[in-house]
Amino acid sequence: MRGAIVRTDPRDQALKILVADDEPAARDLVSMILTQEGWPTPTLAEDGQAALDQLEKGHWDILVTDLDMPRMNGENLVRRAVEISRDLTIVVTTGNGSVRKAVELMQHGVVDFIMKPYDVDEFLASMERARHRAVNIHEIRGMREVVEALLAALESKDRYLNGHSSRVSRYAVELGRFAGLDRNALRFLEYSALLHDVGKIGVHEEILNKPGRLNNSEFNQIQKHPGMSRDILGPVKFLEPCLESVYHHHENFDGTGYPDGVVGEQIPIESRIISIVDAFDAMTSDRSYRGALAAEEALVRIEKGAGHQFDPELVRLFIENFEQVIDLEEVHQ
Ligand SMILES: [Fe+2]
Repeated sequence: MRGAIVRTDPRDQALKILVADDEPAARDLVSMILTQEGWPTPTLAEDGQAALDQLEKGHWDILVTDLDMPRMNGENLVRRAVEISRDLTIVVTTGNGSVRKAVELMQHGVVDFIMKPYDVDEFLASMERARHRAVNIHEIRGMREVVEALLAALESKDRYLNGHSSRVSRYAVELGRFAGLDRNALRFLEYSALLHDVGKIGVHEEILNKPGRLNNSEFNQIQKHPGMSRDILGPVKFLEPCLESVYHHHENFDGTGYPDGVVGEQIPIESRIISIVDAFDAMTSDRSYRGALAAEEALVRIEKGAGHQFDPELVRLFIENFEQVIDLEEVHQ
């Protein structure tokens, strides 16, 4: 066994690790290796069900799970775990017979797998990758608190934006799921959708809240907000994958949008998704220039915009899966 490494980074100690294995010796081995290497002491679960109970009770960063377990096997545990938290980093431990299953599970949110019996160095290398991901997510979560404060400032400035960003974010993730985006892409879509209008902080309140049509110079001001959103988020390293989708959220599928007039699939898919759910939420909310529309009327308008303002394929998915994408109880009726 290698000498213990003293980790001084407080973020590591904050990591919560759950280990699920039905063999007591295997659980204890994982626990011993981690503790000796200076990792936080993991919590041990004797099967999938026990692990699931823990996952439901509180926040976890890393799950290390065996596949072959009584009561609930690792495969079902993984499927349930990703439903509970998209932020969870999952490592599967597997014997020779279940490598294929482990690889399959990589598509369902498992980030790595380790062959049994453990090679200590390989195990630690895998845990190191998991830690790296978990720490990133930790930082993103911290960032999210900053972002939420920023959004609260923005939404208080524009009295018609109340709750808009978080609704758009939820709707975008649902539509993104139907569009086949993977777990990682969905995470960044969530942030892009939440933050797309942050640049409005730089637009004068009188313009944001103006009743009636905007004149040309006012519209020019509004058109600067996607660029300002990108500039505000630019220095935040973890949001880098969001910058392009934020910047292009007012492009139209037929190339008549702004800021760049990009056409069709050259517009990032995340931007095309945000564009639809953003428009839907705007239409069904009170705005300075008009009252709210009913959901049916908003849907008709979105359908009319297919191929012009919106990506027709995404509009089809939006309409087909409308009740799963939109929480109608939240829509002003
Ligand atoms: Fe916008």
